[in-house]
Amino acid sequence: MRFAIFTALPAAVRALSFSAYDLGFHGIYPTQNYLTLGRPSPWVQISHWDSRCESDDALILLTPRGSYVPNPGPVIVDARGNLVWSESKYGQAMNLQVQRYRGQEYLTFWSGTSHGAHSNGSYYMLDSTYEPIHRVSAVGADLGGDLHEFEITSDDTALITIYQDVEIDCRSLGFESTCWINDCLFQEIDIETGNLLFQWRASDNVPLTDSYKSRGGDGRSQDTSYDFFHLNSIEKDSNGNYLISSRHMHAIYYVDRTGDILWTLGGKHSNFEDLSNGHASNFRWQHHARWHENYTISLFDNNGNNVFHNRAELSRGMTISLDLASMTVELQNTYVHPDKILAISQGSMQVIPESGHVLIGWGNTPAYTEFTADGDVLCNMYFGALLFSEILDLGWVKSYRAFKSPWVGKPKAPPDIAAKDDKVFVSWNGATEVASWRLQSAEFPDAAEDEFVVVGELPKNGFETAFVFDGVEDHFVRAIALDAASNVLGTTKVIDSMPPPVVPLWSIILFLSSLIISGFLVRRYRVMICIQTSRLWRSLKRYRKDENHMYELLETQPERTSLANDVNRINT
Ligand SMILES: *[C@@H]1O[C@H](CO)[C@@H](O)[C@H](O)[C@H]1NC(C)=O
Ligand SMILES: *[C@@H]1O[C@H](CO)[C@@H](O)[C@H](O)[C@H]1NC(C)=O
Repeated sequence: MRFAIFTALPAAVRALSFSAYDLGFHGIYPTQNYLTLGRPSPWVQISHWDSRCESDDALILLTPRGSYVPNPGPVIVDARGNLVWSESKYGQAMNLQVQRYRGQEYLTFWSGTSHGAHSNGSYYMLDSTYEPIHRVSAVGADLGGDLHEFEITSDDTALITIYQDVEIDCRSLGFESTCWINDCLFQEIDIETGNLLFQWRASDNVPLTDSYKSRGGDGRSQDTSYDFFHLNSIEKDSNGNYLISSRHMHAIYYVDRTGDILWTLGGKHSNFEDLSNGHASNFRWQHHARWHENYTISLFDNNGNNVFHNRAELSRGMTISLDLASMTVELQNTYVHPDKILAISQGSMQVIPESGHVLIGWGNTPAYTEFTADGDVLCNMYFGALLFSEILDLGWVKSYRAFKSPWVGKPKAPPDIAAKDDKVFVSWNGATEVASWRLQSAEFPDAAEDEFVVVGELPKNGFETAFVFDGVEDHFVRAIALDAASNVLGTTKVIDSMPPPVVPLWSIILFLSSLIISGFLVRRYRVMICIQTSRLWRSLKRYRKDENHMYELLETQPERTSLANDVNRINT
């Protein structure tokens, strides 16, 4: 009870500043429905805007999921939140990013199933036409690819995380002998051959007792395996060593090619003296550790993992500078959400290479924020109602990570076109180079090239562009996508902009019921109908006779006239 009051009170006070969007008036997962796409896509709310967020020409990469996301999958939006690409055929995806492999850019993501700390999937690499060119899987019969990391190294290899239930000696935890743990591995894999190059296992290298994850009743069976480590990021540096993040150890480890841990930052046994009064190494439940220039590390410090605890705390992105000669660390910068979000799980921090800005994905909270390098908020976006995720921590709408990258998409599929009322709608899912649309019409659906007439041209407006078109004569239309230099990028199929009206249901019901009623009347009054019909028939026959007589008279008339003419001719 005390819990409820202490958590609900500050929450209620904070909720006073929420917008209609934050409060869920537009839905827990507000969506937009484009006629040409045929499935809901996120409707992003801009709560802070600065035009500097558009200057790098980069796009935002998200993987919305959660029980209120009807069609989870990879999503790209532009800096203002307009949809650029979405795909639902892979199902739930995580960690969508643009990565370089053999000199070419790929869209990469994990896709598969996940239940708590157990996930099983594989990693996709799509080229600029959105075709899956490579699919990487974990190496080992009983190992499934885990969602947390898929990082392509500068050696053109892949780093992946794996979680595996194993039974090991657990006497250090107070067990009499063994217990079940959810062990963490990482693998380095040759993308071309799928061969395993390196593997590291947490339980071989880190004591179980270093974990901050309370064990409760965990460990007694495989179903309750103890998630002591929770590996969530790996990066390989130019020395060939690995920087890894363990959420449940509150620690970053630097691992060499033999598997040895060279040093630990944070957690129960940090090797660094903290020159910032502990603020450079007191991160907790963190994600996404990455190297930067001059021995700086960035990470996303969740700083909480539970809805009922740490309510006064907030999450932060942070940069930490390391001095490996003196083994000291200093806090460089922090990045805090304008609404002071505490993200209890997931999350990411990216230093955007093009601008030097920082993009934080707030994980369990459906938000992402762009900061200056110094930590000033530039742009803040939501793709779900804040109330349900941030105050109530329900995780109904979330994206494991968020990234910002330039991306050029040239889909193989043609652009889409659809008509409704007096409008024609056009879009091209994933095409990033369309600047304007040209609408053409023709009299027939199979008209020749030169029979199409231009009826309008509009600059591309968000994901879907609408033409007002009430062509009466030539109502078959198609649209042509043009780039900034007016080159043709693609052409839609031809559709009828004025399809015959659909017969509404009520008229069908009216028709059927009148059939039934008239059937009933015929049965009821059949004798009278027979009499009346035969009467009618007889009078009709009589009338026909009279009519024939009349025709006979008429048909003889022209003859007479011509006779009269002849007579006239003779006379003259
Ligand atoms: C992962 O899924 C695949 C295919 O669904 C299945 O064959 C495999 O056994 C699973 N692996 C684990 C470790 O659950
Ligand atoms: C790294 O350090 C060098 C030398 O001190 C400095 O010139 C450079 O600007 C630093 N780079 C960054 C990104 O801070």
